[in-house]
Amino acid sequence: MRIGIIGAGRMAAVLAQRWVAAGHEVMIGARDAERGKVLAARLGPDVPSGTLREAAVFGEVALLAIWPTDVIPALLAAGAADGTLAGRTLIDCNNPVETMSFTLTTGEVSLAEQVARLAPGSRVVKAFNQCHADVWAMDPPVFDDRPLVVPLAGDDPAGKDLVAGLVRDTGCEPLDVGPLHRARHLEAMAAVVIGLLYGGAPTHTVFNLVDA
Ligand SMILES: NC(=O)c1ccc[n+]([C@@H]2O[C@H](COP(=O)([O-])OP(=O)(O)OC[C@H]3O[C@@H](n4cnc5c(N)ncnc54)[C@H](OP(=O)(O)O)[C@@H]3O)[C@@H](O)[C@H]2O)c1
Repeated sequence: MRIGIIGAGRMAAVLAQRWVAAGHEVMIGARDAERGKVLAARLGPDVPSGTLREAAVFGEVALLAIWPTDVIPALLAAGAADGTLAGRTLIDCNNPVETMSFTLTTGEVSLAEQVARLAPGSRVVKAFNQCHADVWAMDPPVFDDRPLVVPLAGDDPAGKDLVAGLVRDTGCEPLDVGPLHRARHLEAMAAVVIGLLYGGAPTHTVFNLVDA
């Protein structure tokens, strides 16, 4: 599968690395061309890099992994309003969490829903936002012999199926928690984890779904 990565930071790097290892074709899109080139070269000799817009149109899936306060400007810079993401599955892993009070910066409407409104025709799926990037660097993320369960929310069943496959490619188990409006709960859950991490918990701290 072709996956365009919008962003060239830590989350972009770890998830791209896992997906390249799983055999997917990945392109890095960055506002800073040099940073994009460096990350792409680290991922493999054939991994291309380009602009945010080029990454948006690269594949059937795009990952949006941008510093939280700049997600919307970056989405617009990627051409979302012009339809660059139409017909594509757009993964939103971003956490709109203010790191003094650990409150959400978005109010009633989740960031994922805002992204969906600004990227007409795209199939937005909230996923990969629940734990630190160090967890995605684990191969595989397993805790007490149990794979990490990764909740995802979205309105389009085909989009969610596709993201569920990408979750399995990281060695985790997908868990469909419902439509995109549930993203506000996933973002709030992440705020709890971020509060723990800022309080000194190890970066491999996760909430996992287990049963007896
Ligand atoms: N890190 C984690 O543990 C973690 C875990 C779960 C979810 N997340 C979420 O994932 C997202 C990315 O986090 P990260 O840790 O990967 O951040 P990061 O390492 O700081 O990378 C952020 C990326 O956003 C880009 N960016 C910032 N403002 C931009 C703008 N206006 N236009 C275009 N690109 C812009 C940066 O570009 P430059 O390099 O040019 O500055 C950089 O490539 C965040 O929303 C975060 O909440 C992070």
